Amino acid sequence: EEEKLKHWFIGSIDQGTTSSRFLIFDGEGTPVASHQIEFENIYPESGWHEHDPLELVASVEECIEKATADFIEQGYTKDQIKAVGITNQRETTVCWDTNTGEPLYNAIVWPDTRTTSLVRELKHRDGADELKELCGLPLSTYPSSVKFLWLLQNIEVIRNAYEEGRCSFGTVDSWLIYKLNGGKEAGVHVTDTTNASRTMFMNLHTLQYDDKLLGFFKIDRSKLTLPKIVPSSDPDAFGILSYGALKGKKITGCLGDQSAALVGQCGFSPGQAKNTYGTGCFLLYNVGNKPVISNYGLLATVAYDFGGGRKPIYALEGSIAVAGSGVKFLMSNMGFITHSSKITELAETVKDNGGVVFVTAFSGLFAPYWIDDAKGTLFGITAHTQRGHIARATLEATCYQTKAILDAMEKDSGHKLEGLAVDGGMSNSDLCMQTQADIIGIPVDRPIMRETTALGAAIAAGFAVGIWKQFDELKEINKKDRTIFTPKVDTKKSRMMFKKWEQAVEMSKGWVL
Ligand code: G3P
Repeated sequence: EEEKLKHWFIGSIDQGTTSSRFLIFDGEGTPVASHQIEFENIYPESGWHEHDPLELVASVEECIEKATADFIEQGYTKDQIKAVGITNQRETTVCWDTNTGEPLYNAIVWPDTRTTSLVRELKHRDGADELKELCGLPLSTYPSSVKFLWLLQNIEVIRNAYEEGRCSFGTVDSWLIYKLNGGKEAGVHVTDTTNASRTMFMNLHTLQYDDKLLGFFKIDRSKLTLPKIVPSSDPDAFGILSYGALKGKKITGCLGDQSAALVGQCGFSPGQAKNTYGTGCFLLYNVGNKPVISNYGLLATVAYDFGGGRKPIYALEGSIAVAGSGVKFLMSNMGFITHSSKITELAETVKDNGGVVFVTAFSGLFAPYWIDDAKGTLFGITAHTQRGHIARATLEATCYQTKAILDAMEKDSGHKLEGLAVDGGMSNSDLCMQTQADIIGIPVDRPIMRETTALGAAIAAGFAVGIWKQFDELKEINKKDRTIFTPKVDTKKSRMMFKKWEQAVEMSKGWVL
């Protein structure tokens, strides 16, 4: 028991697209207690995707309560938790009333495509061509800016609040921090640079809001309260948890979830990359301390920014809108499986995809294609087609898009990746990871502890309170017993499969509602 009390721990809130979690990590990066809750994803119309902002907060609160209770039951004390980090789904947009601290509308979630026609219009506005240079992102339905603009144009309560100067804007990090701090009584209104880099409001070079960007979207800064942009690791900027089981603990780290996964995989050197197969799938490639603006359909983004005199680190990102959500679709909408984890079993009932290709363009296609009007399309169906073939094709869709992203990265960086570190739900499937290695022709490297996103936020929080001072100290974290999937099919075959995919992408374009 005494031995137990010598150790210290860091808490980590991970607020994702389909679930919230709270994990408590020890100094070796092992989670000793955790709790996860799924909450409602709301689809009011085709292409619309919302969350109830209060439900997000409540789910996080409950996870903190339950995981902390488990931690204490194991014989530890709350004093041993030195800080709390936070990581979150990115781009998802929340607006709340500055006077009451309550949400004005549901959060618009990142894969939502209600902005398709708005984006088409914006592409013709003066200055549209300059946006990518300034903020790293192309105009699409994905960033927060277009989601906010839609709210402003279509939702009266938001327009009124804006006109009256009481509309607060935030991504999920800002909203949670504000509420967990105590909302209108005591909530700080901040965001870290990684999250801010997904809004299209921040200049990627200065890491500050840019009047040209705000001007493009015709946003009047005197009417809208934007979060203050701060580094991802800071002892004071994010306030404290003002209630609940961990009342009084400081929040000292904040990273968008994909940035957090890169940190959790210790991708601290330029040239290192990770791919996270969550609801969507996101490949981040560390490019060092200067942003690289992509010419091949990738995003430039802040990878992480640990403050304390350290330079911010940038990444090239390939974002895939549908990964785990494709598996969920087969489960919830099609009734093919009873649990996501059964997808591999179903895929293994057949020996290959039987000629089926599934372009899972439920939110159009993201990187490297950026086709807003693509729709989910199944090709190659015959009387021979079984559910297993469609299951395989669903897994393969993410693997093909990862291949397209890697090709774009190679062109942008002039450098071929030698291996790919992976994590996230779908990476649990050996079949899927073997397929991935076969399609990209390089080894896929999977850690045993796959809560890398939460670990990354814990690392950011730990740096701020001096638990770690150098990235070198983390070298051994989560490195033991990794599984390496090496490519097994010949390159001729994988090239042919990919060609078929590209053909299918071409055919999925141009759907008008
Ligand atoms: O950009 C969206 C991303 O941050 C969501 O991550 O893990 O919920 O797929 P995830």
